[in-house]
This record gives sequence, C-alpha cells and structure tokens, in this order.
Amino acid sequence: MKSLSFQPTSNVKGTITLPGDKSIAHRALIISAIAQGTTSIKNFPANLDSLMTLSTLQKLGVKITKILRPNALSEIKIFGRGLGGLKKPRGSLFLGNSGTSFRLLCGLLSGQDFAVRLEAGLSLSRRPMRRISLPLRMMGARISAQRKPHSANRREEYPPLTIKGGNLKGITYKMPVASAQVKSAIILAGLYARGETRVIETVKTRDHTERMLKLFRADIKTLRNMIKIKGAQELVSPGTINIPGDISSAAFFIVLAAIIPGSRLVIRNVSLNPLRIGLLRVLKRMGAEIKVTRSSARPVTNFEPAGDIIITSSKLKGIGVQTEEIPSLIDELPILMVAASVASGRTVFAGIGELRVKETDRINSMFKNLKSMGAQIKIIKRGNSENIIIDGVTGLRGGRVKSFGDHRTAMSMVVAGLAARGKTYIDDTSCIRKSFPDFLNKLKSLLR
Ligand code: S3P
Repeated sequence: MKSLSFQPTSNVKGTITLPGDKSIAHRALIISAIAQGTTSIKNFPANLDSLMTLSTLQKLGVKITKILRPNALSEIKIFGRGLGGLKKPRGSLFLGNSGTSFRLLCGLLSGQDFAVRLEAGLSLSRRPMRRISLPLRMMGARISAQRKPHSANRREEYPPLTIKGGNLKGITYKMPVASAQVKSAIILAGLYARGETRVIETVKTRDHTERMLKLFRADIKTLRNMIKIKGAQELVSPGTINIPGDISSAAFFIVLAAIIPGSRLVIRNVSLNPLRIGLLRVLKRMGAEIKVTRSSARPVTNFEPAGDIIITSSKLKGIGVQTEEIPSLIDELPILMVAASVASGRTVFAGIGELRVKETDRINSMFKNLKSMGAQIKIIKRGNSENIIIDGVTGLRGGRVKSFGDHRTAMSMVVAGLAARGKTYIDDTSCIRKSFPDFLNKLKSLLR
C-alpha cells in the first residue's frame, strides 16, 4: 500500500509524451503472436496489464524480446508463430486483474485445439464473464466457469474459466452490451472459425482490433454496425508498429490543465481514435479550450489516428452526456466526474451502469470520494439504467479518500486533490501501475 497526500497546485505548464495506448498494445501483442513474421512494437506501455498479455503469450510458446524502460520508449519484438502456432501452456494461465487480457485471450484460446484454465486476481474474479462465454460457446468452444449462488444474478459466470477450444463455426451475434472486449473476443475466435463471423453492435465501441487486423492484411469488413471476418486466413506482420500515447492516460492531465487556472499543457502524439475521444468532445461542450493538431511524432502512425493536444485552462459549465456517448469515454467517466464537480451548473451522465463492473464499482468509488470532498453528486436508478447527476460547486475541499484498489479512481482523486482547497490523502496509489506506472513522475514534471 502506498498512501500519498496532495496539496493544491498553482498551475500546470509544460509538454509531455505518454506511454503507448494500452488497448492498442493488447491487440498488437496478440495479433503479432499469431501472424507470420516478426513485429517490433515501439512505445510499448510497460504497465501491469500489457505485461500480463505479454507474459501469457510467452507461456503459449511465443518468443518475445523486450527492452523495457519505465518511460515511453519501451520496445518489444514478437516472433509470430502463425495462426496455428500456439502451444498448450504447462499449467493454468493467471491473468492478474487485467480484464482486457482475460477476455481477449478467451477469444483467442477458443480457437486452439487444447484445453486451458484461466485464473484471475481478486478484482477480476468478481467481474462478469458470461458476456464472453455465451457467444464463444455458440461458436463451439466448451467453456466451464464459476457461478456464485448467492449473487444477485445467479446465472452470471466468473473466473476461473476452463476453455476447450477448436472446431469453431462462424456465428452472427448481436451484442447485448456495448463492449469492445466482447466484440474483440468474438473476432479473434472468428479467425479460427469455419465460414464467416458477424458481430452487430447497437452502439459502436473502440475498433482497435478491426484496425490492427487490417494492418496485418486480414479480410475484415465493417458495414455500418456490422463487422464481418472470414476464418482461417493467415495474418502478415507489417514489421513495425508505433503505438501512439494513451488517450485514457492523457485524460487525467487534460482535465487537470483544464480546471487549474493559468495552466497550459501540450501532450504530444496521443491516440485519437474517433471511438475513444468522447472525453475531448464532452470537455469541449463544457467550455474547455482544447486544440488538436496533427501529430508531431515521426514516423506518423498510419493505422490509428493520433495528434498533439493543447489544453488551456478555462471556466467549465455543466452539460448532459447521453447514453450513446458512454462507450467512447467509458474509462474517462471518473475523471469527467471530477471536472463536473467544479464546473458551474449541472452535469448529467446517463446510462453509466457498466461502471459497476469495472476494476471496482466506479459509481460507488467516485460517489463516496467526491461526496467526502464536498461535491453535490447523486445516483439515480431507473430500471437497469443508472445516471449520475453532479451540481458543480465553487471548489472541492481536501479530505481522506480511497482508491478502492482501482487505478482510474486513484488518478482521478489525485487530480481532485490538486484542484481542492487543503490537503487530500489517498489511501493507496500503488494500483496506478495497472495502466500508468509513470503517472506520478510525469505529474511532478509539470507541477512547480
Ligand atoms: C477495453 C474496453 C473497455 C474498457 C477497458 C478496455 C478494450 O471495456 O473499459 O478498459 O481494450 O477493449 P469493455 O469492453 O468492458 O467496455
């Protein structure tokens, strides 16, 4: 446990670059592993989650060499084994608390001719897995999972999961939840299926898997809300992949610079996938001064849009955020709640129920923390849908808050603490390593 205290900061000034996008990194690793040829991944983010996917692929027989540095310059090389080249691991696979590793690898492992058991750490063991086991079973994978007889939903399934894959067939699947992890698991299994696999989304989610597969010359098509992928096609490595900085990590600095008067911050080469930049759209509607220019990084990333972001502080006002926007800012909701707490007027976040099943229940963690710092925050439940309503206050007050072991709650509360009057204590910040081990150092470089 690493508890820390934060004091109000005068302003934020400077230029930073960030480690590569974690979502893109998972896809780059997995797809390189089953492609023909060797792939170098530049700006690989050396956080716990990305490293979990990396080490699991090694256990599946993939050779990976790495030059890891605790900054943005880590580079790794993956020696692809081709579509059918993975090996049965010696024991069970332990995925820690990385939900993206777990769910994407369930899709990949459903395509393999061997049985494997996937285990999870404490927080991931509480997260729902029926959303992936159901479609993967429809494709032909045999999956057994844990049930919790005393939980509210007795049909729900949890890790550990045992998967006996192979002999899959393509399906057409209409997604009941908006989840890029679920969509990606089905697409990865689809690579091993007979015929075509089709996924239909009601609300579009991040398309990093689709883009990465295209980069590896896969036959994958998106027609409005339907993604189609053909099975049994060999993937070909593009040689080098440059991962742009993570917009979800940038989010904490963007909000910090937006709400601390007198700030001006430049963040270079950030991933700007249109399905990930809901935060920028919402902040602009709130009155934030944000400029996005073409990336100054060389070489320019060609498979994912990227750019430099310039933020100047300004007065924010409350707005309405609609259910359809949520997938494009799902991981940024905690930090947006901090922004809304100090904006003038009311902000409503509609349809945010999925936050209950993240690393921690983020509705609960942010509600408790922000309330204890003087925010005017309410949770409204309507059937299955949940809204959060925040009436901005003139300033938060420092206090004792908790990370609940969740990286994004922790980083959001660091920003809240820097914007508040008085001192803020956060019980445990070690969880930040999950996505952004260098967060506090980057932050220090910007504060005076
Ligand atoms: C992710 C998808 C999102 C997001 C997670 C990363 C991905 O999860 O919250 O941090 O890389 O596909 P869901 O698919 O559960 O919405």
